[in-house]
Formats: sequence, C-alpha cells, structure tokens
Amino acid sequence: MAKKPMNIALIGCQFMGKAHSNAYRQAPRFFDLPVDPVMKVVCGITKEEAEGAAAKYGWQETSGDWEEVVNRPDIDIVDIATPNNTHAMIAIAAAKAGKHILCEKPLSTNMRDAKAMMDAVEKAGVKNAVSFCYRRAPAATLAKQLIEEGKIGQIYHFRGQYLQDWIVDPKFPLVWRLQKEVAGSGAHGDLAAHTIDFARYLVGEIADVTGVMETFIKQRPKLAKSDDRLGGVASEEMGEVTVDDASMFLVRFANGALGTIESSRFCLGRKNYNRWEINGSKGSIVFNVERMDELEVYFHDDPPNLRGFRTIQVTDSCHPYTGNYWPAAHIIGYEHTFINQAKDFLEAIANDKPYSPDFRDGVRNQAVLEAVEKSSETGAWVKPEAI
Ligand SMILES: NC(=O)c1ccc[n+]([C@@H]2O[C@H](COP(=O)([O-])OP(=O)(O)OC[C@H]3O[C@@H](n4cnc5c(N)ncnc54)[C@H](O)[C@@H]3O)[C@@H](O)[C@H]2O)c1
Repeated sequence: MAKKPMNIALIGCQFMGKAHSNAYRQAPRFFDLPVDPVMKVVCGITKEEAEGAAAKYGWQETSGDWEEVVNRPDIDIVDIATPNNTHAMIAIAAAKAGKHILCEKPLSTNMRDAKAMMDAVEKAGVKNAVSFCYRRAPAATLAKQLIEEGKIGQIYHFRGQYLQDWIVDPKFPLVWRLQKEVAGSGAHGDLAAHTIDFARYLVGEIADVTGVMETFIKQRPKLAKSDDRLGGVASEEMGEVTVDDASMFLVRFANGALGTIESSRFCLGRKNYNRWEINGSKGSIVFNVERMDELEVYFHDDPPNLRGFRTIQVTDSCHPYTGNYWPAAHIIGYEHTFINQAKDFLEAIANDKPYSPDFRDGVRNQAVLEAVEKSSETGAWVKPEAI
C-alpha cells in the first residue's frame, strides 16, 4: 500500500541544506518509514541559488521567498537550515501556518526569540525538533543506553570539548558566523551548544555555570560583498569581530555532577574534535565525533586482570540505528546522524509521538549559553533561566 506523502520545504541550501537534503533522500532507503518524505520545495536567498540546489539534490520545486513557501497549503514540514538570526522569523511563521518544524541549532541568537519560537510551536501544537544531530550518532545513543542501564553508575564528571581550527588565519574574513547580529555568538553558540546538548542528554539539567569567553582576533577583513552569505571573499576594509573565538566554563549539574565545557575555533589540527568523557561510580565512557563509529568504555566491575579502556565499534546490528545500514565494520559517518534524525522526526510526526531534542530543549540550551555569557562579563556563577 502506498505510504502517506509528507511534503517537505527546505529553507537554506548550503552546508546544512546539503546534509538535510541527503537525509530525506536516504532515510527511506535504509529505514521502513511510516510515511513517504517528498522533497517538495527548496528555498534559497535567491531563486537561482535554490535552482542549483534542486538540480543537485533532487528537490521538485524552487523558491527565493521563504514566506511564500512556509504558507503553502501543500507543505507539511518546514526544515530551517539558514543562519541563526533567521530561525525565529521563519519558525514562528511556519508554526502559525500549522507546519511541523525541524530547525538547525542553535535555536536562535537570544532567549527572547528562542522562547517566542517555543511558544509558537507549542501554541500551534506542531511537532518541533532542533538539529542537535550528534545525539543520533550510534555511539552516542549507545552511551545513553549504558547510562540508563546503570552500567556507568552515578555520574560524577562530564568533560566536553568541541575544538576546530578554521579561523586561526587573521586574514580569514568576517563571514556571518563571526557577526553577533547574525550568529548570536561564536564558537560558543556554534560548538559549545552541541556539547551542552550532550551534557543535558547524558547527565541532566545544568544548575549553574561560570566561565570565560575571548575574542583573540578582534578585527578581520570585511566580506567583498556585504550581503555575501555564500562565499567568504575578503575585501581590503577591516571590520570588528563581534563574537567569541573560544569559551570555557565550569558546570554544576542539578544532580550533583561536575563538568567542564570548552569550545574553540583556534585549536590547530583539531578539525571537528567534538569529544566528551563521562566518569561514574561504575565506569567511564568516551566519545569523539572524529572517531564516530567507536565508543570507549571502562567498566570497574571487570575482573582486575582485565580492567582497562576498551573500544566498541558500534557498527554491529546490536547497536542503535546501525543494523539498518551495512554489515558489521562497514562503517557509517557524519551524514548518518542527519539520516537518523530525519527518520526519527518523520516517525514522531506520523505516530504522533514526542520528539527530542525539541524547541523546549533548544531554549534550555540557549539559557545555558546565555548564563555563560553573563558569567564571562561578571566572573560570577550564573543559573540558567528556568524554563
Ligand atoms: N547540526 C550541525 O551540526 C550544524 C552544522 C553546521 C551548521 N549548523 C547550523 O545550520 C544553520 C545553517 O548553517 P550552514 O552552515 O548551512 O550555513 P550556510 O551559510 O552554509 O548556508 C546558509 C543558507 O541559508 C540561506 N539563507 C540565508 N538567509 C536566507 C533567507 N532569508 N531566506 C532563504 N535562505 C536564506 C543561504 O543562501 C544559504 O543557502 C545555522 O543555524 C548553523 O548554526 C548546524
């Protein structure tokens, strides 16, 4: 029997647009979905940009006008893969039009907009998801299972780092990710947001934080075109960097665990070093996105002569998600986190089941980001706003 079609509109069609397009195309090829995802329309900043993406990724129709797209009666899901300062206006309009929404992270650039987005989707009663895609790496999901089964025991420590190196060159231009009014923050909202999501997912709510943020290179060449969202061509004129290059903070969890979180775009050699370690009363677990198919574990209950960290390769069918891809050790990677995310979101919609992380999680994440920003100004411990 033909499955119910679910028409998707994608807004934004570069890096994340490519990842999300691939996810909708591949999800039904690997998973037996309850609905048929239809790549109906892709929207760019211009229609020409959308046409390029449609030809490459297989979208049926194109648009250069997101407002027209989110109000189309034939659209079921709006997928937002645009810069952070556009998330709120698109998501709120989409919620008012009754669409289910998957929005890229961070949810927004500030708490006011993030809460307005959460209120809009909750009022409209539509399914909503924030694309903290790394949760859906099989190794991360296995870590969650081990924690829930009590294999790690009581958690004492979470030690998270998300390190990159792409702006060490002072000549690298002022792309949107380095502009506060577009991005909200720098490495902090871009990278630490993922680590905060892991911390909340695996350990629990964050009670208070204290930290520092720094901008090492305060001026950079402006973009050759002031509205350039696509390239990164430097002009002769310099402009101010208005976001952090790095953030570091201490975390006290509500359950008594202690954590540290570090994000930076200035760690030469670290390309996408998204790593965390959790230490509990019965064992430890370590995950690193750069070795995504592996989970390091240490179990204190092992016989003393066999104790030691060991590496589980999570490609076997006994691990979450992986049975649907390839035989054991035929590894999967980055794009599969988005395929798994698309699958879970489509299932949540079709079966009317909760989806996590949702916009409420996105707001709680934003509250932690902002608490660190406040702490960085005052040096005090700050409690994230209660949601
Ligand atoms: N989940 C992840 O791991 C991850 C990774 C990278 C980026 N992101 C997030 O994804 C979002 C997009 O990042 P990106 O790297 O894809 O950016 P990008 O600059 O590569 O692409 C942005 C896209 O949005 C389009 N756009 C901008 N304004 C628009 C408008 N008003 N209407 C229609 N289209 C518009 C641009 O033309 C472009 O197609 C950001 O929120 C970012 O933080 C998430």
